[in-house]
Amino acid sequence: MKKKLLILQNAFHFRSFSFFKYIFFKKRRRKIKSKATKYFYELPCIDFDEWASTQNKDLYLEMKKFQDEFVLFEKKFDFSHLGGSRGLDQFSALYFFTILLKPEFILETGVANGYSTFSFLSGIHQNKKGFLVSNDLPPLDIKKENWDYIGQMVPEQFKPKWKLFLGADKNNLKNITKNYDFDLAHFDSDKTKSGKMFCIETVIKNNSKHPLILIDNCADDFFWQGLKVENYSKFIFEQNKKRFGALIYKEHLSRLLLD
Ligand SMILES: C[S@@+](CC[C@H](N)C(=O)[O-])C[C@H]1O[C@@H](n2cnc3c(N)ncnc32)[C@H](O)[C@@H]1O
Repeated sequence: MKKKLLILQNAFHFRSFSFFKYIFFKKRRRKIKSKATKYFYELPCIDFDEWASTQNKDLYLEMKKFQDEFVLFEKKFDFSHLGGSRGLDQFSALYFFTILLKPEFILETGVANGYSTFSFLSGIHQNKKGFLVSNDLPPLDIKKENWDYIGQMVPEQFKPKWKLFLGADKNNLKNITKNYDFDLAHFDSDKTKSGKMFCIETVIKNNSKHPLILIDNCADDFFWQGLKVENYSKFIFEQNKKRFGALIYKEHLSRLLLD
């Protein structure tokens, strides 16, 4: 009962009620997820490490070193404050993309303990250039005093290059994307089809730079099958046995050896 009250209180605080739809259709969602995962994992894909090593061998080796060091780094943290889950499996691909593209502004949704956040900021630190803007809705069953653990993996020295917004994507992303012109975006937050579409459409509509867009959670439903974005091509990458989607502006394909 206490937990239900906490969820309700947080839902009102963040004006975020899609969570209830998510719980309500839990059984149906699970059924769809197992079929969608099979579908997504049977599609042709690009092996990320193979692609990365042909792009830039030195950077690929640096990414592997980052991956090895990360294994020791993550052991320092207690993830139980935010529900106990680890983070993104393909975190080092984000480090690679950041150094390869040298973006001025990066957008990410979904921070949790900060695997993706730490990876982007490590790339920014290496580039000596760039800024990361993150949005995250704290899990609604987590007490306010634990919200401080969002992004707990980000070291103090990286914080000047980072701005974190707390709240639902649907409430925050319009303003965020109007205030920054993003070159790179990563969506790992709202798992619903409409939530993922909202993130993609909002960043494309409000930005002039045709950002490269990476999307996690593509295997949760049939969102990928129907996804079509004007002037963008779709690719699936696989790293550490985990697949993620990429939307790449057609005019940028040749410089990434993807045409
Ligand atoms: C899988 S975790 C992100 C993991 C993170 N990218 C990493 O690499 O460690 C997803 C996060 O998105 C948040 N989230 C869920 N729905 C959201 C929404 N509608 N808007 C913003 N964030 C949301 C969750 O509370 C959680 O913190």
